[in-house]
Amino acid sequence: MLKIAHRGAKAYEPENTLQAFQKALDLNSDGIELDVHLSADGHIIVMHDETIDKMTNGKGAVNTFTLSELKSFLIVDKHQIPTLNEVFDLVRKRCFINVELKNADTSRQVVYLIEKYIAEEDWDYSHFIVSSFDWNALQEVHNLNSDIPIGVLTEEDLDTALAFAESIQAKAIHPDFHLLNADNVHKMQEKGFWVLPWTVNVEEDIQKVKSYNVNGIISDFPDKI
Ligand code: G3P
Ligand code: CA
Repeated sequence: MLKIAHRGAKAYEPENTLQAFQKALDLNSDGIELDVHLSADGHIIVMHDETIDKMTNGKGAVNTFTLSELKSFLIVDKHQIPTLNEVFDLVRKRCFINVELKNADTSRQVVYLIEKYIAEEDWDYSHFIVSSFDWNALQEVHNLNSDIPIGVLTEEDLDTALAFAESIQAKAIHPDFHLLNADNVHKMQEKGFWVLPWTVNVEEDIQKVKSYNVNGIISDFPDKI
């Protein structure tokens, strides 16, 4: 049962910060989940929302700022917004990284960065899962490099997600946990897919999805899994 820390260990540190990812490592998470956008000058920025309004002392869309401008805004008065390569450098292969593409425009840069860490830093494909609700973005990742493990995110119809996962030979299906039961988990696993539900935080829900024998759980509380 893989313990995957949602946006880092979001329950304990501000989401998607290096501190949240360090906390996830301290809690012996098997993986971390994070969200990415592009800056105006093409850097891969780790942030959940389209804007910096909720998390920082600034206002505006992530993709309207350069990296150096984004670095001038602070999260709870002390943390900088990280780039994806800063997270890779912090993690140093100690767990896998689930990169959620929030927009299709990040596919090419994320593939390039993963290939760079594999070629130059001795990482391998098992250190990554690229997921998205935007299946066009996943199709592009698959077209660019079919070795990159893909997780098909869905909050709706599991059968459609399963058919798409088959079409791009995905590694995993990442469903909203409310969609799951023992039968449909078994059906997805029978076809060869890992099932990694999100975002399971309450003890009762964790026990329920565990009883379905999912492959892992994405949670703000990786230590509860
Ligand atoms: O990857 C699972 C989960 O993170 C998707 O929802 O809104 O937390 O990015 P959200
Ligand atoms: Ca996410």
